[in-house]
Amino acid sequence: MKEKIDSLRQGFEQELAKAASSEAVEKLRVAYLGRKGSVTELLKGLKDVGAQEKKELGQHINQLKKQVEERLSQQVEAIRAAEEQREIDSAQQYDVTLPVGGALGSYHPITVVQRQLEEIFASMGFIVEDYNEIVTDYQCFEAVNIPKDHPARDMQDTYYLENGQLLKTHTSAAQNFILQKYGAPVRAIFPGRCFRNEATDASHETTFFQMEGIMVDKNISISNLIYFMKTMLSEVFERDVKVRLRPGFFPFVEPGFELDINCLICGGEGCSTCHHSGWVELCPCGMIHPNVLKMGGVDPEEYTGFAFGLGLTRLVMMKYGVKDIRDLNSGNLKALSQFRQA
Ligand code: PHE
Repeated sequence: MKEKIDSLRQGFEQELAKAASSEAVEKLRVAYLGRKGSVTELLKGLKDVGAQEKKELGQHINQLKKQVEERLSQQVEAIRAAEEQREIDSAQQYDVTLPVGGALGSYHPITVVQRQLEEIFASMGFIVEDYNEIVTDYQCFEAVNIPKDHPARDMQDTYYLENGQLLKTHTSAAQNFILQKYGAPVRAIFPGRCFRNEATDASHETTFFQMEGIMVDKNISISNLIYFMKTMLSEVFERDVKVRLRPGFFPFVEPGFELDINCLICGGEGCSTCHHSGWVELCPCGMIHPNVLKMGGVDPEEYTGFAFGLGLTRLVMMKYGVKDIRDLNSGNLKALSQFRQA
């Protein structure tokens, strides 16, 4: 039996050397280690030998079995490495020093303005955070003081998933997450794509962008809010723009405001973009409601803060004179390529 083991070992090595594909190796594995494989048969044969011999032969056969297993996996690894190398060798070689041919792409105007705003706010000490587009009802509504059945939900119908989650209707959906993550004091902006179940027109879309910001610290007041909003707007538009602040209701701020800017499409005379009012709502804002701070783990007795929800899409329309919001989502290269930057 010992000779049989040795000759099996030799035979295996010879066959293995010829197995050049992973299929061939697998066949070999079955032939030696499978249920009816040669090594398995040897082990079965042990029952016919005496106890003394059984121990010794058993050890030999198990050694062989281990060796066969090891050699098979080595071979599989070698074949895989060779295949990889072949792919690398045959891959097309690119000359990275060649000049770019064809038309250049460009950033979407929303991306351009978003980055500009991120820089402005970063220079004022704000961190930039990212957040999900799919959120829970708690994050989007309850954590910002809009309980179930609150009428404020009527303004923000959205798209619901079967698992109860929803597409976020405003970037405020991240307020709770940011407060929990950083605690107070904190200055953060979090831009994001928002969704609402809306009838579309020149100034309404089902998908649009906002940029939310919060600043929480000791003794933050409305004057801090106004200062930051004015600084940001004059930097974005690179000129003085007329703004007005009027009271506005949002359950997550108290007091709450609507910050409007003079419509830059018509210069304030009235057009379809500003619904013939001469003003465009650009940045709802206010002092963060104590309930929202509490749910975010921040003590409202010690800290106060402001929040704003800048309409990023609307800002882009004002900055570039885009009359119809739908152009921004149309994917129309003729429209979008105008914003290519040098
Ligand atoms: N989340 C509000 C909206 O989309 C805007 C907002 C943000 C208002 C922050 C106040 C403070 O309608």
